[in-house]
Amino acid sequence: MASNAPSYRDEYQRSISDPDGFWLQAAQAVDWVVPPSQGHNKEDAPNGRWFADGELNTCYNALDRHVAAGRGEQPALIHDSAMQGTQRSYSYRELTDLVARFAGVLRAQGVGKGDRVLIYMPMIPEAAIAMLATARLGAIHSVVFGGFAASELAVRIQDAGPTVLVTTSGGLEPARRVEYLPTTQEALQKAGVPQLPVIIKHRDGFAADPAALGLNGVDWDAALADAEPAAPVPVKASDPLYILYTSGTTGAPKGVVRDNGGHAVALLWTMANHYDIGPGDVWWTASDVGWVVGHSYIVYGPLLAGATTVMYEGKPVGTPDAGAFWRVIEQHKVKALFTAPTALRAIRKMDPDAELLKKFDVGSLQTLFTAGERLDTDTYHWAGKVLGVPVVDHWWQTETGWPIVGNPRGLEPLPLKAGSPSVPMPGFDLRIVDGMGNDVATSEEGNLVLGLPLPPGTLPTLWNDDQRFIDSYLSAFAGFYLTGDSGYQDQDGYVFVMGRTDDVINVAGHRLSTGAIEQVIGTHPAVAECAVIGVADVLKGQKAVGFVVLKSGLSIAPEALEKELVALVRREIGPVADFKNATVVEALPKTRSGKILRKTMRQIADGDDYTVPSTIEEPSVIDALLPVLRAM
Ligand code: COA
Ligand code: AMP
Repeated sequence: MASNAPSYRDEYQRSISDPDGFWLQAAQAVDWVVPPSQGHNKEDAPNGRWFADGELNTCYNALDRHVAAGRGEQPALIHDSAMQGTQRSYSYRELTDLVARFAGVLRAQGVGKGDRVLIYMPMIPEAAIAMLATARLGAIHSVVFGGFAASELAVRIQDAGPTVLVTTSGGLEPARRVEYLPTTQEALQKAGVPQLPVIIKHRDGFAADPAALGLNGVDWDAALADAEPAAPVPVKASDPLYILYTSGTTGAPKGVVRDNGGHAVALLWTMANHYDIGPGDVWWTASDVGWVVGHSYIVYGPLLAGATTVMYEGKPVGTPDAGAFWRVIEQHKVKALFTAPTALRAIRKMDPDAELLKKFDVGSLQTLFTAGERLDTDTYHWAGKVLGVPVVDHWWQTETGWPIVGNPRGLEPLPLKAGSPSVPMPGFDLRIVDGMGNDVATSEEGNLVLGLPLPPGTLPTLWNDDQRFIDSYLSAFAGFYLTGDSGYQDQDGYVFVMGRTDDVINVAGHRLSTGAIEQVIGTHPAVAECAVIGVADVLKGQKAVGFVVLKSGLSIAPEALEKELVALVRREIGPVADFKNATVVEALPKTRSGKILRKTMRQIADGDDYTVPSTIEEPSVIDALLPVLRAM
C-alpha cells in the first residue's frame, strides 16, 4: 500500500459520514451511458434507490469495454471441467461475440428490456453466457441452482414470469448424471406454462429429445448459428439486473432483486479493495452460478474488473481426488481462490497432511478467501499452514450481494483473527443490538443489524413483494436492516458471526429453510406434525434433521417412514437439501402458545448450554427427547 493511500479506517468513516460522496466517487469506475448525479434517493419506495438518474449496461461494462480498451485477446473465462477432463478458454473478444449473438437468440424469442429469463443450468460456460446476454438486452435473469427439484423450479417460474427458459440436456454429478429436461418439463407443467419456449444447450452423452417430452424446445447451437448479434441496451441504474431466489423462514423463497448500477459500482469496488484483483489477474471462485457467490464472483465481479475468471465444474474431492483444487490453481496460475469452508473440510478429511499438494506448484496463489458459512478455527489454521497464504473469511448474504464484514486486502490488509471475518466493510453501518434494539456491550452477543441506507449493490426490495421486504428486513428494528444473524464485536472492532437467529440453516454452504422442509414432510399422510432443525455436522457445518409425530391410530415402521420422508424431500426440494434423518417421537416440545422449541432442541443436539423456557407447555416432552437429541 502506498503511504498516501487511504487507510481502511478513513475510508470506512467517509463511507458512513458521506455515503453519497463515497459511492459517487466509486461510481467513476463504471462506464455510464448517463453518469449519475445523485447517490441514494430516499424517496423511492420501499427503501430508496442508488444512482437513480444514471444509465448504463452491465454486460457492456463486463465485456465490450475491455475489448475497446485493447484487452480483447486476454482470457475472460476459463472453463475447467474436472467431470469431463476438459478445459476451454474464452478471450474477452470471443466471449463478447458469443454473448452478443446469444442476446440475439433471446431477442428473437421476444425477450426485451425488463423481461425475465429463467436459467436452469449446471456449471457450463453457457450459463454465464445466458446471464450476460440477458443483461445485454436490459432484461432480468433468474438463475435456479441445478440441485433443486421440479417443484422449487416451478415456484420460481411462477413468481418470476419468464418469457423464456434456458437450460441444458444434462449435468454431471460424481455419482450420477442429472437429466435437466424431464425436470424442466415437470416444472413447466406445475407452473401452468407447459409451452414456454425452452432454449436447450445439448451436451454430449445426453440423448434428450425435447419434442418427446412435449417441450417447446429451441436448440442453442442452431439458434446461435443464425443469430444477429445484439448491441447493449442502456437501462436505468435502478432497473433490475437479476432476481435470485433464496430461502426465507417460510416455504416460499424470497426473490432478492439486484439493480444494475449499484451492483456494478459495488462489485468493482470490492474486486479492487477487498479481493485485490485487477485487470489480467486470474481469479477462481469455486461455487455455483445458482448461488449469489456465483453471480457476484464467478460472473460479474471478475469480468467487470477485467480479470480472468475460472469456472469449475467439479467437486473439491472425488473428481478425481482431494488434489483437484491444487491442480486447477497450478494449471491456470490462480492468484486468489474463493471457496466455502466445507470444501476445505472435505479436502482435509481425505488428505489431512495435504500430501497431494506436493504434486502441484501453487506458487501463484496469494490469498484464500472463504465465505458462505462460519470458518471454524481448525480449518482456518489447517488451510493457512498447508497453503502458506492468508486465509480470509468474510461474511455476507444473498441480500447484500457483497461482503458486509471482511478484510480489505486491496485497500489495507488488516491482521487476521481466527474465528472472525474481520471488520465491517465501507457502506455497512453494522450495529449489534439486543431484542429491544439497544446496543449491546463490547464482546456481548446480539442481533447483527445494518443502519439504513444500505450501500449500493444490496437488495432494494423483493420481486413483486415490497411488503414482504419490509416485514422480513426493516420492521424488526426501526431504521435498521435485520441480517438474521447473531454475533459480537471484540475490543478491536472485529466481528464474530455466531449463526442465524431464524429458521434458516446452512448445509455445505447452501442456504436452506427448515420451514420449507417441514412443509414437505407435513404432506406425508402419516405425519401429524413435525419439526426440522439444523444440527452441527463435522463436514457440512450443519445438517437438517426431522422429528415427526404420527397421526393417532397410525402405525408405520419408523425406518420405512424415514425412507419415504427422505425420498419425499429429495423429490420436492431436491438433492441439495441433503435430508437423511427423520425420527418418530411421541410429541414435540412447545410453549404454551404452541411455538415449537426448535432452538432449545438444536442447542441440546449441539451440546450447547441451554435453558428450557418457563413458558414450556409440558416439560416432560423435552426430557423424553433428551437421549435422541444428544445422540445426534
Ligand atoms: N445438480 C444436481 N445435483 C446436485 C448439484 C447440482 N448442481 N449439486 C449438488 N447436488 C447433489 C449431489 O449430487 C448430492 O446428491 P446425492 O445425494 O445423490 O449424492 C446432493 O446434492 C448433496 O450434494 P453436496 O452438498 O454437494 O454433497 P456431497 O456429499 O456430494 O459433497 C462436498 C460434499 C463437501 C464435496 C460438497 O458439498 C461441496 O463441494 N461443498 C462446497 C459447496 C460450495 O461450494 N458452496 C458454495 C456456496 S457459496
Ligand atoms: P447466503 O444468502 O446463501 O449467502 O447465506 C447467507 C448466510 O450464510 C448468512 O446470513 C450467514 O448465516 C451465513 N454466512 C455466510 N458467510 C458467513 C461467514 N463468513 N461466517 C458465518 N456465517 C456466514
